[in-house]
Amino acid sequence: MQPDLSSLVLGPVRYFTSLGSTNDEARTWAEENAPDLSLVIADEQTAGRGRFDRHWVTRPGAALAFSLITLPTPQEEANLACLAPWGAIAVAQALEQVAQLPTAIKWPNDVLIRRRKVCGILVEPIWSGQSLQATVTGIGVNIRPEAVPPASETRFPATSVDAEAGYSVDRWEVLRSILRSMIEWRTLIGTPKFFQAWNARLAFKRERVLLSSGYDPGLDREGILQGVGLDGSLRLESEDGSEFSVQVGDLHLHPAD
Ligand code: BTN
Repeated sequence: MQPDLSSLVLGPVRYFTSLGSTNDEARTWAEENAPDLSLVIADEQTAGRGRFDRHWVTRPGAALAFSLITLPTPQEEANLACLAPWGAIAVAQALEQVAQLPTAIKWPNDVLIRRRKVCGILVEPIWSGQSLQATVTGIGVNIRPEAVPPASETRFPATSVDAEAGYSVDRWEVLRSILRSMIEWRTLIGTPKFFQAWNARLAFKRERVLLSSGYDPGLDREGILQGVGLDGSLRLESEDGSEFSVQVGDLHLHPAD
């Protein structure tokens, strides 16, 4: 059943019972000049995509899978690295409000509950020559336990909203709450208040973490996690007490133990 999103100020909505990937659909739509805040939602994805070219499985009715198209404001264009955390802050806030869950954001943008991943976000810019035409923020949230992939298929422990809440949450209420939060936080992207909200929920703060490329151990970095800098980079303290930072990029973050 299609969600009722009439309480929100959105662009047009395309809802699919089954689709390859909402990000792919949104990308095509954006290239055809979709209006600001156009939304693609799917009940099932058969070719969902994650970061690092990974598959993202969405079983029918078990998860939220949607992609929001934005026509970037100058403020957003100047803070592109903040778009994925923008989604993460909104998801975290929605899960706190709808199901009173304790959330954390694993840098740069995974949402965790009790140290397990419940949401992944994939942001894709749509370029028209040299200029940024649109951005697609794709969000996947594991709602029911059957949305959680087997441990053998994930790099990081995963969970679902229902498993953590202890009851069956209203999936569309979570969606409405996320979208409402995204609309509210949009004008604050890149501001001190935005970084404050991100830092306040940052997972593994003051813990030793490992940042690995996944393919070259020579690129691995380890340190005590301090926080997020004003450019979205992660600040860490090394063994000798000096501070260093890493940029959002192709690094996986894990607790070091
Ligand atoms: C990740 O953690 O690797 C990011 C996962 C992003 C998955 C979402 S589900 C909706 C949207 N459509 C996709 O194909 N991917 C994103």
